[in-house]
Amino acid sequence: MEQFAVSMRGITKIFSDVKANENVDFSLRKGSIHGLLGENGAGKTTLMNVLYGFYRQEEGDVWINGVKETIDSPQKAISLGIGMVHQHFMLARPLTVVENVMLGKKSRRGILLDTKETARELAALSDRYRMGIDPYSHVWQLSVGEQQRVEILTALYMGANILILDEPTAVLTPQETDVFFHTLREMRNDGKSIILITHKLEEIISIVDEVTVLRDGKMIGTKCVDEHVTKDDLTKMMVGRDVLFHFTPNTRKPGKEIFQIRNISAKNGKGLVALSDFSLDLREGEIVGIAGVDGNGQSELCEVLAGLRKVENGNVVLDGEDVTNRSPRFYIDKRISYIAEDRQNTSLALNWSLKMNLVLKNFARPPFAKHGLLQKNAIESHWDEMQKAYQIKANCCDDTARCLSGGNQQKVILAREIESDPRVLVASQPTRGLDVGAAEYVRQKLLDTRNNGAAVLVVSADLEEILQLSDRIAVLYDGKLMGVLPGGSDPFEIGELMMGKKLEGAQNEA
Ligand SMILES: Nc1ncnc2c1ncn2[C@@H]1O[C@H](COP(=O)(O)OP(=O)(O)O)[C@@H](O)[C@H]1O
Ligand SMILES: [Mg+2]
Repeated sequence: MEQFAVSMRGITKIFSDVKANENVDFSLRKGSIHGLLGENGAGKTTLMNVLYGFYRQEEGDVWINGVKETIDSPQKAISLGIGMVHQHFMLARPLTVVENVMLGKKSRRGILLDTKETARELAALSDRYRMGIDPYSHVWQLSVGEQQRVEILTALYMGANILILDEPTAVLTPQETDVFFHTLREMRNDGKSIILITHKLEEIISIVDEVTVLRDGKMIGTKCVDEHVTKDDLTKMMVGRDVLFHFTPNTRKPGKEIFQIRNISAKNGKGLVALSDFSLDLREGEIVGIAGVDGNGQSELCEVLAGLRKVENGNVVLDGEDVTNRSPRFYIDKRISYIAEDRQNTSLALNWSLKMNLVLKNFARPPFAKHGLLQKNAIESHWDEMQKAYQIKANCCDDTARCLSGGNQQKVILAREIESDPRVLVASQPTRGLDVGAAEYVRQKLLDTRNNGAAVLVVSADLEEILQLSDRIAVLYDGKLMGVLPGGSDPFEIGELMMGKKLEGAQNEA
């Protein structure tokens, strides 16, 4: 086992009634990049948290560099040369980079004593891997990509030879991902062994040496990634069957403008400017994708379009009528559907039954109500139909929405918003957290909705999804429109705009 940096055998980890990992084997070769692939909930993070000493496994053993070890704390993992960068960063924002690093290792020596020395070492590491991090900058000043680099830098500084990265590219633009992968290759050249958790197949194929696939807590297989491996092979391992849909490109021309947003400004929940002087037209039979790094005004834009957020300046025009700041009910009556990013709080009545959540917007109307009486049979058969179509995993239509898993809650919302024949559909992160099959189903539904003549706006942090669906792509940065590009544009061109470079005359182009 000497050639393995990590070898895990027969790992089982149980959370009350969930077997998050079941008899999993995993081996990482020294000096390699190993992908850990699987759908949401497959058990990837859990397995790595076992390796990092966050969780204790019920069964199974771990060898590090050929020696059997009991890893019962992250401190132990670190002492064995293991570093982990979590999905959610753990940096203290008011502190500087070097202070953050010293905080993590304060047991070694006093903070004041070696700040300078630590900063010097960090700067050297940053240079070595071309990370461009100034140890004295404050974390709050750094972009998400830079914060990630600080986390990696911290792990390296602590002596990590085995680096676990949990979905690192989820928050990066294509350019940043490119640079990041370059860094990973350099680390591999220096003999480091890297585990890259991801659910993006492109990344697996472009960077990893080997991939291990988990499904439902079980290890499905480990494959060498060479020119023979295809996305289809990997998808099949991940999902357990062939993927269902193949999208055909849009051949129809968009129709007339339905929804016009003219020079609007809006504030976020903290009262800060979230959108400024933003203009966009939505047309019949067209999908406009909104690309951008999370938190650049996308959520606020969706809320404005759904009538849930006040517009401070500018106008919202529907079918030629100024409808700025009308009530949410008005928007619903105009058949504007909204799939909110924050499912639980905005889109569901958690204590209501599943069947009623499906008819939340129209239960007072036929066929669900007649002469002021709810029609139990119509409501229940609607549930049966939707449950089948969207493959909603639920015991009974009388259970509350609260009982369902996140993915299944999303399916209930989608069924309601898409099946109500919308004229405008605003979908914010519509497939986040769904498994591959369900996500494909939802994308197909968005395309169908467009093909039925609706104007569709899709916000997604997943650029691949935006490219797959959009007829036009609008890019948001810092609450401003950076430009509108045709569907199928070069991801790098979109990436430039996502980082704040503006197209000439962007505000007029929509
Ligand atoms: N701390 C926890 N408590 C209870 N259940 C958990 C916990 N962490 C993960 N799980 C469950 O274990 C399963 C695997 O989760 P996870 O390892 O996070 O998957 P992945 O990282 O592949 O998306 C899921 O069903 C999840 O709900
Ligand atoms: Mg995870």
